[in-house]
Amino acid sequence: MRGLSSRVKKVKPSPTLAITARARAMKAKGVDVISLAAGEPDFDTPEHVKEGAIRALKEGFTKYTPSSGIPELKEAICEKLERENGLSYTPQEVIVTCGGKQALYNIALALFEEGDEVIIPAPYWVSYPAMVLLAGAEPVILETEESEGFRLTPEALRSAITARTKALILNTPSNPSGTAYTKDELEGIAEVALEHDLWIISDEVYEHIVFDGFKHLSIATLSPEVKERTIVVNALSKTYSMTGWRIGFAAGPREVIAAMDTIQSQSTSNPTSFAQRGALEALRGPQQCVKEMREEYQRRRDLLYELILSIPGISCFKPKGAFYLFPNFGAYIGDRFKDDGELCAFLLEEAHVATVPGSEFGKPGYLRLSFPLSPESLRKGAERIREALSRV
Ligand SMILES: Cc1ncc(COP(=O)(O)O)c(C=O)c1O
Repeated sequence: MRGLSSRVKKVKPSPTLAITARARAMKAKGVDVISLAAGEPDFDTPEHVKEGAIRALKEGFTKYTPSSGIPELKEAICEKLERENGLSYTPQEVIVTCGGKQALYNIALALFEEGDEVIIPAPYWVSYPAMVLLAGAEPVILETEESEGFRLTPEALRSAITARTKALILNTPSNPSGTAYTKDELEGIAEVALEHDLWIISDEVYEHIVFDGFKHLSIATLSPEVKERTIVVNALSKTYSMTGWRIGFAAGPREVIAAMDTIQSQSTSNPTSFAQRGALEALRGPQQCVKEMREEYQRRRDLLYELILSIPGISCFKPKGAFYLFPNFGAYIGDRFKDDGELCAFLLEEAHVATVPGSEFGKPGYLRLSFPLSPESLRKGAERIREALSRV
């Protein structure tokens, strides 16, 4: 019988991409929209990275590569993991993917199935629950609180575990909350994962976008026992402003990486050949660009944070990493606006500012505001929000 699968009916398209598309369509019609909705850097990809890809194209490096990535790039990823994270992996324990997103999706298909539960702290990145559902498993959402810095505590994790719990998805630094875990906090979580024999999916795509001297730590570094149950996910997208290149990677136990490669070889095959050569330049080339972007993000975080906090009734956790603010707009919800979705629609239609409702991240009452924009646009966006809210 014709019809869509029950699998696809359980999920909906990515809301952030949908809102960004709506803001773009308004812009195309001549409306001056400030988009605080997109999850990507506004910097261009560094020149030496582009040159690497152009060279590859000119050399005719335009054919299939091994599905798990070219050997030189896998070597460069192993060097990066050793140099920056203190983690030792062999190339057989690494896979190059079409963005961090495909790494996570491959993991979901390789590890999860019907009957499994996967713990996801909220607010979460929108695609985690969708990926778990597409794999046939059940996302178990564990709420975290603004007053506790949106951190998952070992106690909360322990209380959510059942005989069916297979894994925890941990994102540090986190999109959208900006929380980032310290060594002590990671140790508490790892202890529970060890006790209950869980997989840990550690999404570290924002590792380099950290503020006030915070040092990112991968949970896999805590001990060989923790490393053995962790799959580290990362990407070049945010670190090197390469979102459109679609290059990510994962590192973990050999059998998991091999299973991910089987899935990848039967679905997308390799990530784009010349994009892999650009990625090689990014990882092996000068790293000054990463530092410069981080410093600029910090200035923009500080600016938007001050501007948003000055709007009456709003509280906001000061992000330790990633490039989003996740302010609490609860004071404006209830009377004039039924929920954060209505507030978000109002801000887009009336103030021409695109934001993403917190409920899309499993945390109603909040809005996510991205700050990779020029200081001028951030000022304008915040002022428009303030002005529109003063009228309600
Ligand atoms: C937390 C998190 N993980 C993974 C990804 C996926 O990144 P990529 O563009 O490399 O697929 C994103 C992108 O927004 C993200 O925010």
